[in-house]
Amino acid sequence: MSKKLAEIRSILEEHHEMIKNAIPLIASENVTSPAVNEAIVCDFSHRYAEGWPGQRVYAGCEFIDKIEIMCQDLMKEYFKCKFADVRPVSGVMANLVLYNAFTSRNNGKMCAMPIPKGGHISHAPYQASSGRFIYGTAGTVRGLDVKYLTFDEENMNIDPDGSIKVIKEFKPEMILFGASVFLFPHPVKELRDVANEVGASIGYDGAHVAGLIGSGYFQDPLREGADAVALSCHKTLPGPQTGAVISDRVDLVDDLKNAAFPALFSNHHLHNVAGLAVALTEMLEFGKEYHKKVIDNAKAFAQALNEQGFNVLCEHLGFTESHQVVVDIVEFKDKVGLGGDIERILEKANIIINRNLLPWDIREGRHYMNPGGLRLGTSEVTRLGMGKSEMVDIAEFFKKLIVDKKDPKKIRNEIAEFRKDYQEVKYCFQSSNNAYEYLKFY
Ligand SMILES: Cc1ncc(COP(=O)(O)O)c(C=O)c1O
Repeated sequence: MSKKLAEIRSILEEHHEMIKNAIPLIASENVTSPAVNEAIVCDFSHRYAEGWPGQRVYAGCEFIDKIEIMCQDLMKEYFKCKFADVRPVSGVMANLVLYNAFTSRNNGKMCAMPIPKGGHISHAPYQASSGRFIYGTAGTVRGLDVKYLTFDEENMNIDPDGSIKVIKEFKPEMILFGASVFLFPHPVKELRDVANEVGASIGYDGAHVAGLIGSGYFQDPLREGADAVALSCHKTLPGPQTGAVISDRVDLVDDLKNAAFPALFSNHHLHNVAGLAVALTEMLEFGKEYHKKVIDNAKAFAQALNEQGFNVLCEHLGFTESHQVVVDIVEFKDKVGLGGDIERILEKANIIINRNLLPWDIREGRHYMNPGGLRLGTSEVTRLGMGKSEMVDIAEFFKKLIVDKKDPKKIRNEIAEFRKDYQEVKYCFQSSNNAYEYLKFY
C-alpha cells in the first residue's frame, strides 16, 4: 500500500474510533444503518442517469429507474403526498428548487426566518453588513430580495401578527417556513390567508424535522397549507446525505420537476437515492417508535440539564416539541467562556455539539464564532438506543465539564466507558455490523 494511502486509511480509522466513543449531539446529524451503508457503496455511485426515470439522458438505467421509482413511492407513502422528487442532492438544493419554482428570476421577493433567530444561510439574501458581505444562497444564487418574518423571542417562534404586517407591506412571491433552530411548529395555517391575499406561494424547509413530519409527530406542512416542502434526508430522517422535494399540488408537478433538472444539476447522486429508499423502508417500519423516542429524549434531556442548573430555553412551553434543545450559557461567560469556548471543552471530552446564536446575541454584541447558546439534538443518540436515563447521564457529564470544571481528559475516559453499551444502530433491520464500523474492502 502506498504511504499516502496508508495515511488516508489510518486517519479515517481514527475518525471512526473517535465517533464510536463520542456522544454525538449535533442536531443536523444522524447515523445510517448497515443496510443503508451497503446501498450507498453500490455501483450506482459510478453511473450517470440525468432526468426523470423513463426519460433519462443516459443508457444503462434499467435498475436505476426501478430504484428511483421505488424511492419516490416510499417517499409518497411516508409523507402521505402526491409528488416526490428525490433528485436534489442536499437540503440547500431542495430549497433552491422551491425558489426556482415560486419566485421570479429578476427581482424575486421572499419572506423567511432571519439567521440569528434560527434561519438557515440558504434562506438569506446577499447583503453588506458592517462592511462584510453575507452570501446567503437565496440572494447570491437566485438574486432574491429577502424580508424577514418577525420573531417572538420568548416563545422561540415566528410571530404571526408581526409577520402578517411584513407580508402585507412587502408582498413577497413566496413565504418560507422552517429553520435550523426549530423547537416548535411554525404558524403555517395562520399565515395561509395572508399568503393568498398577496398571491404568495408557501414553501416549508423541513430539513431538520423531516423524520418527525413523516412519522407524524410534528406539524404536517402540506396539510396546513404549504405548496411544497424541501427536505434534507439525513437529519431526523436517517438516510444518506441527500435532499428531496414533496408536494400535494399536482398542478405544480411540471414546474417543480423543471426547477430541479435541468435548472440546478445534471446528474443526481444515484447511490444516495438507493440509500434513501432503504432508509424509508426502515422509517415506514420503525419510524413511529424511533421518532417518538427522539422527542421524548429531547424533553428529558432539557429537563435534566435544567435540573443540573443550566438555563434551557422555553421551560414554560415544555422546552421543545422537536429533536432539539437550546441552552443559554451566557452565565458561564466569566468562569468558562461562551458557546465557542464551551463547544471546545465538550469536544475535548468527546461530546460533539454546536455552538449557536441566540436570538438576542447580535443585539448584545456576541458573534456566531462565540455566541451565547448551544444547540443540542437527540436524533443520533436515540438511534444508538439511548433513552431517558441516558439523557440524565449526559446532562451530568455537562455539569461535570461546565459547572464543576472537571478535567475533560478524565471525563473522556468516563464517556468511552458509558458509550460501550451503545454500539449498534437501532430502529432498523438487524445486521451483524455495528454503528460506525470502518469497512475494509482490501
Ligand atoms: C433549515 C435548514 N435548511 C437546509 C439545510 C441544508 O441542508 P443540507 O446540508 O442538506 O444542504 C440545513 C442544514 O443544516 C438547515 O438547517
